[in-house]
Amino acid sequence: YLIGIDLGTSGTKTVLFDECGRAVASALAEYPLHQPQNGWAEQDPADWWDAAASTVRQVIEESGVSPEGIAGVGISGQMHGLVMLDEAGSPLRPSILWCDGRTTEECAEITRLVGAQRLIEITANPALAGFTAGKILWVRRHEPEVYRRCAHILLPKDYIRYRLTGEYAAEVTDASGTNLLDLTHRCWSDEILDALEIDKGLLGHVYESCEVAGRVTPEAAALTGLAAGTPVVAGAGDNAAAAVGTGVVAEGKAFVTIGTSGVVFAHSDAPAIDPQGRVHTFCAAVPGTWATMSCTLSAGLSLKWLRDNFFAEEMRTAAGMGVDPYYLMDRQAERVPIGANRLLFLPYLMGERSPLLDERSRGVFFGLSAIHTKYDLLRAVLEGVVYSQRQCLDILRGMGVVSQEMLACGGGGSSPLWRQMIADVFGCPVRTVVSKEGPALGAAILAGVGAGLYPSVREACEKMIELNPPQQPDPAASTQYEPYYQLYCSLYPALKEQFS
Ligand code: XUL
Repeated sequence: YLIGIDLGTSGTKTVLFDECGRAVASALAEYPLHQPQNGWAEQDPADWWDAAASTVRQVIEESGVSPEGIAGVGISGQMHGLVMLDEAGSPLRPSILWCDGRTTEECAEITRLVGAQRLIEITANPALAGFTAGKILWVRRHEPEVYRRCAHILLPKDYIRYRLTGEYAAEVTDASGTNLLDLTHRCWSDEILDALEIDKGLLGHVYESCEVAGRVTPEAAALTGLAAGTPVVAGAGDNAAAAVGTGVVAEGKAFVTIGTSGVVFAHSDAPAIDPQGRVHTFCAAVPGTWATMSCTLSAGLSLKWLRDNFFAEEMRTAAGMGVDPYYLMDRQAERVPIGANRLLFLPYLMGERSPLLDERSRGVFFGLSAIHTKYDLLRAVLEGVVYSQRQCLDILRGMGVVSQEMLACGGGGSSPLWRQMIADVFGCPVRTVVSKEGPALGAAILAGVGAGLYPSVREACEKMIELNPPQQPDPAASTQYEPYYQLYCSLYPALKEQFS
């Protein structure tokens, strides 16, 4: 057996799989997202660890599997978040997350100190507000006492691995989103660390995703129910892990996911870079390969915002029926015609990363009329997120890195309505994996390779991934969506100056 832990933004999901990739038991624990200011986003690393430890304990207990029968643990997680620990390994402040937009000034400083061209040459990406380096500089400037006491810097899933194994370590796919990694050589860039005056000793050794990066300590074993000594692989950022979990591990393969964020991800055997930096180039979890991907910041987050503020009644009904509120919301959105009665939504609730790179932008409902109901708003939100991802897909298509078929995963990927919208708006077939656990399955596959059950990530994917038949685009629906998509594309350029 193998365990995959996925440290998401809305919660942590842990799944225990058998060697064929079948989910035997799964558990989810949620935690809050704190927004101390407009555009800021933080979480408490203690909440993450409590969620990880309790869900691991739960899947072991529920499955009845002997802890000694678990060959390895893999972790995937939300990328870019800054975790700062003191000498004793305790968090010094809440983690500043991937969707936090406070570092505009620090990004300008990084670009000035390293040089825009050099930054892209080394890291393959420009300095972006969501990425980690800007957050480190922000803490150094605004909270010098915290910075002075900081002995270790980790990314979110690396913190969970540290709590399991006692080892401070990093890993290539996640480290790619720090603005500090030499992307070609897959190691920290001394040149950038020197330019930014960040001590390399704060950062752990950078592993490949499927390498064993530590073993479960007796203390963590007592808290989780795992056997002491169980190998824990380095794991991967959530998107790189989802790529493994959907079998997107070869040139030309791509997936789309809607979780809190929305991502379009294409595997590539050599780094492919958008010179304008509108999509990211990161290391992939297959050693010696890369990926090009976009990130829509508020994808599922837009839907959750709508649910929490306008769909309280449906949430109560769903709880009474024992179903997911999003399931009921899907049924309601289905009854609204394509185009939401001429209502459009720009999903920039936390600013936007891909393709705008504008942390000052904010969400918009365009065309709101007295005929609209909250169900039109719902449909417009679902469509707006897909339009944002289509804009990103158009860039990836322009770079020649995506194939004709898309895998789909994440909460949005498990909604047949949202999946059909993706097929129609993207104009290509969309497929899902039988096990719906994208990143958790990917993390478990990496653990299987690290534990020696499989010789390589690609061979493990062949054994552990089974695909459902593709969902085809409906040409008539594609034609109906197109003018709304074009209108969507025209709105941000018209509003850009007003956001600042
Ligand atoms: C990727 C990104 C998000 C997070 C959270 O660049 O910021 O997808 O990984 O899921």
